[in-house]
Parts: sequence; structure tokens; C-alpha cells
Amino acid sequence: MTIETTPSALETLKAKQHRIWSSGDYGKIARITVPLAHELLEAVEPRPGACVLDVACGTGHVALEAARAGCVVTGLDYVSELVGVARRRAEAEDLDVDFRVGDAEDLPFADATFDAVLSAIGVMFTADHDRAAAELVRVCRPGGRIGLASWTPNGFVGRMLKTVGKHVPPPPAAQPPTRWGTEEGVAELLGDGVHDLSSYTATVTQRFASADAFADLFLTYYGPTYTAAAGLDEEGRAALRDDLVRLAREADRGVDGTFVSDWDYLVVTAEKR
Ligand SMILES: C[S@@+](CC[C@H](N)C(=O)[O-])C[C@H]1O[C@@H](n2cnc3c(N)ncnc32)[C@H](O)[C@@H]1O
Repeated sequence: MTIETTPSALETLKAKQHRIWSSGDYGKIARITVPLAHELLEAVEPRPGACVLDVACGTGHVALEAARAGCVVTGLDYVSELVGVARRRAEAEDLDVDFRVGDAEDLPFADATFDAVLSAIGVMFTADHDRAAAELVRVCRPGGRIGLASWTPNGFVGRMLKTVGKHVPPPPAAQPPTRWGTEEGVAELLGDGVHDLSSYTATVTQRFASADAFADLFLTYYGPTYTAAAGLDEEGRAALRDDLVRLAREADRGVDGTFVSDWDYLVVTAEKR
């Protein structure tokens, strides 16, 4: 699947997405995705001393996990506030990580710099998927590993993104982030630059006080839902909230009135040729 978009439409989209991830307070949501970083590191198994890059690192889960494993780590994200949180977390644990503000679609690193290039639910949210994928491959050394964790289209977050899209349709240039949540999609994106690509679906169990508490948390702190709600009138916001609560209730396997659900994501690993 090739998606035709003009460079300027993608630049405009990137600026908009940057505003989205700078809004709300992703740090308050990020705690729920810590297990993905652990899973990704287990899948890729970088050895102590390996040079590892965490692309679109947010508050730094993957980078910090790699640093704990003894790797030499760089993390990069284009939202400076999130990189600031990542730096403070590294400091608090006395971990040495080179956290940078930068663009995943134009990585400020030479070709073949890293032994492992990783991204957990990060690179899937770039504006230009093809460019971001080409950058992952470019900065990885031949024989090095690329590891990605991405929400699947039919998992909870995939369905949540679709729900949001029904209330606030994505801009025409936007590519579905969950394209990274299928093996076929990632194989197409990484192309011939890699081989030995394999994938498996993992789940992370999430627990919230209630379906309503989940909806309110995401509407307050998660950039995509926060921004969608901010662009709607009162009636529209209420309808979006109702749909998020409904989605949560459908996915709920809690037995005590709290909201408990299993969120699927795809873990992909591949070797750079
Ligand atoms: C859902 S968050 C995930 C953050 C982190 N990887 C984690 O596991 O918590 C998506 C991240 O992608 C970042 N991002 C999206 N497009 C980017 C780009 N072009 N360059 C750098 N960061 C980007 C956002 O700023 C945000 O921090």
C-alpha cells in the first residue's frame, strides 16, 4: 500500500501532530505502557555495551530499560517537555542516557550508528511512515536489530483511535498509525533493508477505577483524545466521552465494578541486512 501525499501536507501534519503530543500531559498516561518497553527489550535482547536508540522515546521507557540492561543508550523525541521528563527519570536512577530533542523522520545520526534501533508505540505516530521507517533502517548497523511495539488495528487502542476518528476525522494526509500494528504493514515499511522479520502479538492488561475514570483520564491527558475533545463543542465532547465509555464497557473483563482490559500490541523484530 503506497499512500500518496505531498511533502508540504506531511510537514503540516507533522506540526499538527507535534502540537497533539505536546498537549494534555502524556507523562500522566505513559505509566500504563511501561510493560511494553520490558517486552520489547526481551524480544530484541541487546547485550550489555550495545549501542541502542529509542526512537520517539516520550518519557523514556525503552531507553531507561535498555540502560538498566547495561546498554549505551540514546533516546529521541520531538516534544521537549517529554524529553525533559525522560532526563529527570534517568537522573533519579543514576542512569547515563543521551536524551535528545529531534525528529524521527530525520534522525541526527550517521548511517549504521546503532546495534539496535527500537521504538515502542512511537514511530507509529510519525507523519511520514515511509521516511520514519527508512530512518530506522539507515541508522542501524548491518547485522543490527530493529525492534518495534505497535498497537494493533483491532486491539483496544486501535479501536479507540477509530472511535476518535469518527468524531474528529483525521486530516487527509494522515496515515493510519496501526499500519505498524500488522506484520504485513511493517514488512512493507522496512522493505528490503531488513531480513528475518518476525512478529507476535502481546497484551498489556490495564486497570482503571471504572470505564468513566478511563475516559476522563484519556480526555484530560492523552494528546490525541484531549485535542479531539478540545476541538468539539459541548455536545460533541459529551458524545465522544459516551463512545469512549461504551468502548471501555465492551472491553471490560472486570468483575468488581472496576475496568480491566487486555490491550493488544504487535512486537516486530528484524535484522538489518
Ligand atoms: C504514544 S507516545 C509513546 C512514547 C514512548 N515511546 C513510550 O513508550 O511511552 C508517541 C510518541 O511519539 C513521539 N513522536 C511522534 N512523531 C514523532 C517524530 N516525528 N519525531 C519524534 N517523536 C515523535 C511523540 O512525541 C510521543 O512522545
